[in-house]
Amino acid sequence: MALYSEKVMDHFKNPRNVGTMENADGVGEVGNAKCGDIMKIYLKIDDGIITDVKFETFGCGSAIASSSMATEMIKGKPLSEALQLTNKAVAEALDGLPAHKMHCSVLAEEAIKAAVKDYYDKNGIKYDEKLFGSCDSCCHECEI
Ligand code: FES
Repeated sequence: MALYSEKVMDHFKNPRNVGTMENADGVGEVGNAKCGDIMKIYLKIDDGIITDVKFETFGCGSAIASSSMATEMIKGKPLSEALQLTNKAVAEALDGLPAHKMHCSVLAEEAIKAAVKDYYDKNGIKYDEKLFGSCDSCCHECEI
């Protein structure tokens, strides 16, 4: 069996929503202390809905595929739904990642959360700090 699913290869070779965004409403950047990879997510938010999303990832193929899939999964969704997105859901949507690459999908979850938090902070919107606690399968490798 191939190490990477066809979906991982597709999102790695043809990543969706790559780029930066001028006047983004929320920006989140996270890094993995171990491998040094960095992911940045930009959100355009209208009335609590993510109307556009872009990402820049300096990282491995799994991190790029995870970013691409994660941005597709939150586009057009309410912020509350985006905050529920777990790295496991991203990996499942990619038809799986090798176990030693699961931490790469964590970057996507954390970058989205950081971007939403940035939006809340910039707009003085109150939130429950617990929403931005450790991710679903925290490996304590992320730096926010
Ligand atoms: Fe660093 Fe994949 S090896 S994010």
